[in-house]
Amino acid sequence: MTQAINEIRAQFPALNQDVNGKPLVYLDNGATTQKPQSVIDALSDYYRLNNSNVHRGAHTLSDRATQHFEDARKTLQAFLNANKAEEIVWTRGTTESINLVAATWGRQHIQAGDEILVTGMEHHSNIVPWQMLCQQTGATLRPIPVKDTGELDMEAFASMLSDKVKFVSVVHVSNALGTINPVEDIIKMAHEVGAKVLVDGAQAVSHWNVDVQALDADFYAFSGHKLFGPTGIGVLYGKEELLNAMPPYQGGGEMIEHCSFDGTTYNVLPYKFEAGTPNIAGAIGLAAAVNYLNGLDRVALEHHENALLVRANELADQIGGIRK
Ligand SMILES: Cc1ncc(COP(=O)(O)O)c(C=O)c1O
Repeated sequence: MTQAINEIRAQFPALNQDVNGKPLVYLDNGATTQKPQSVIDALSDYYRLNNSNVHRGAHTLSDRATQHFEDARKTLQAFLNANKAEEIVWTRGTTESINLVAATWGRQHIQAGDEILVTGMEHHSNIVPWQMLCQQTGATLRPIPVKDTGELDMEAFASMLSDKVKFVSVVHVSNALGTINPVEDIIKMAHEVGAKVLVDGAQAVSHWNVDVQALDADFYAFSGHKLFGPTGIGVLYGKEELLNAMPPYQGGGEMIEHCSFDGTTYNVLPYKFEAGTPNIAGAIGLAAAVNYLNGLDRVALEHHENALLVRANELADQIGGIRK
């Protein structure tokens, strides 16, 4: 594996440099990942050869840009095993994906007296949009407690579920603890009381294949830049029937079907949620990142990561005083 790892490392130009007189060691992938050459090339090729606005169809470059942009959506559909490409909405990242759901599904369905559950290990991007929604509606935000071991207290979660709970928004992998939450069980339990579930997959999608249909997630959110793709692009997956019933998020541009002072009609999915000119290069770059990952042996990568974790634990034990 060491040779394969060195070959993979060589595909990331930013890692091929010395910092402070030593080969760069980059351990901040939870915050953002470095980009392989193929992603950088995809961005550069788009701007060098195909730069144009999408869905205008007026000339060759626009046709090409549209084709690559929509192919990128299909790549992400396959990556998540979503049922349809229309269920893949481009956003700026995880934060915007969660805000979109809170501002649309949330404002449409949440009322005073309702409860929204998150976990005690959420990133603030999966707390504050729900806090804002609760302030606007009179609903209550309740955190599911985390045990001393860093795992979610599933018994406490079960006891918090009632018909007051309308939405559960949980992190798949905690950015602070590394805990992998049992989201399949969480989704099943939440559905039993009629609640919808969003999974924050920002830290999950780079580690293994996520299947949104197998999970039965209502919404799944992640960012491109933590998945070896560009910044400023991310995905909101949503079940078609839910997205169709939701009002638009922002107004203008791509989300319009017909605009007049007498009233405006909205575009079909997924464009209804993609106001303005989208991040075309970003979507194409993110698809290149997914293609890059698909070209690697992801099971072997998972084994390598596990071996690194075992080694890190051994070394932490030698330091002492570290609670794991
Ligand atoms: C679990 C989790 N959720 C959400 C976010 C926010 O992601 P972004 O800043 O790309 O929107 C992060 C970023 O660190 C994260 O780790």
